[in-house]
Amino acid sequence: MQANNNFQEWAKFHQSRMEAVLDRVLPSPEVMPQRLHQAMRYAALGGGKRIRPLLAFAAGEITGAPVERVEAVAAAVEMIHVYSLVHDDLPCMDDDALRRGKPTCHVQFDEATALLVGDSLQSLAFQLMAERTLTHSPSLQLEMIRLLALATGSRGMAGGQAIDLDSVGKTLTQTELEFMHIHKTGALIRASVMLGAHCGQGVDSDLLDAINHYAKCIGLAFQVVDDILDVESSTATLGKTAGKDADSNKPTYVSTLGLGAARQLAEELHQNALSALIDLGDRGRRLVQLADFILRRHS
Ligand code: IPE
Ligand code: IPE
Ligand code: MG
Ligand code: MG
Ligand code: MG
Repeated sequence: MQANNNFQEWAKFHQSRMEAVLDRVLPSPEVMPQRLHQAMRYAALGGGKRIRPLLAFAAGEITGAPVERVEAVAAAVEMIHVYSLVHDDLPCMDDDALRRGKPTCHVQFDEATALLVGDSLQSLAFQLMAERTLTHSPSLQLEMIRLLALATGSRGMAGGQAIDLDSVGKTLTQTELEFMHIHKTGALIRASVMLGAHCGQGVDSDLLDAINHYAKCIGLAFQVVDDILDVESSTATLGKTAGKDADSNKPTYVSTLGLGAARQLAEELHQNALSALIDLGDRGRRLVQLADFILRRHS
């Protein structure tokens, strides 16, 4: 219970830190073009669980990374994530009207603005990665930028989204479903953990391998749980429309395996993620707590 309380305080502290960093990094709403900047801030500020930044902060703590460095990568991954949500909600994709408990960006503003919000958040994420010092080594910094690009593009999130849209009304095998989820959601979650870890100095490769294994498992588990919550939770709790996957005829872990097997898979992935951290002992506790949170969350 104590550890749990402790985790909640830690998470709250870093969520507020993230909010403040994003507030600083996003252009002021008075700067031209005002409407675009207002929409970017509307989408990025004041909502979301900030799981990806929390994962980056937790991994950075393990590798002794200076927090100002982790802040930059955390803000970058969150901006990529928000961009993916704004585009995911567009009528040409999932056509959703509610996100983070408020009208989606294209509903509040308009479709063209929402498209540009996504474009601009993506560019700003890479600008931040390029202009801040993220690590002691310039070549590692370039590698980190490359890692985020890979996780975001057609071989990562955007590729997974393409498969998702192409899968409407189809039955996927478990392997195909896994491929889709690893890309559309797993890739950015994994990048969040790895980028946080890379902000540390002289990180040994066994540690990176363990963290990477954890990140892969938790990235997939995250989307399995998202599929379960779409069925089990309510619109009010989720802050986004529940039951959307079935309504849109999307293959998910629940529609493919059934609720019981989907839950079991999430548990197995959670266990595998924890096993990867065993050698870290107490150093891994924040990542353990985040894995627990990802599995047991209600929204
Ligand atoms: C929702 O992500 C979209 C998926 C990748 C499943 P989150 O559940 O992390 O959404 P926020 O950031 O908390 O709103
Ligand atoms: C979206 O998956 C993953 C992204 C890359 C945004 P979903 O379409 O299931 O996400 P939600 O349920 O709308 O948040
Ligand atoms: Mg979608
Ligand atoms: Mg969606
Ligand atoms: Mg979903």
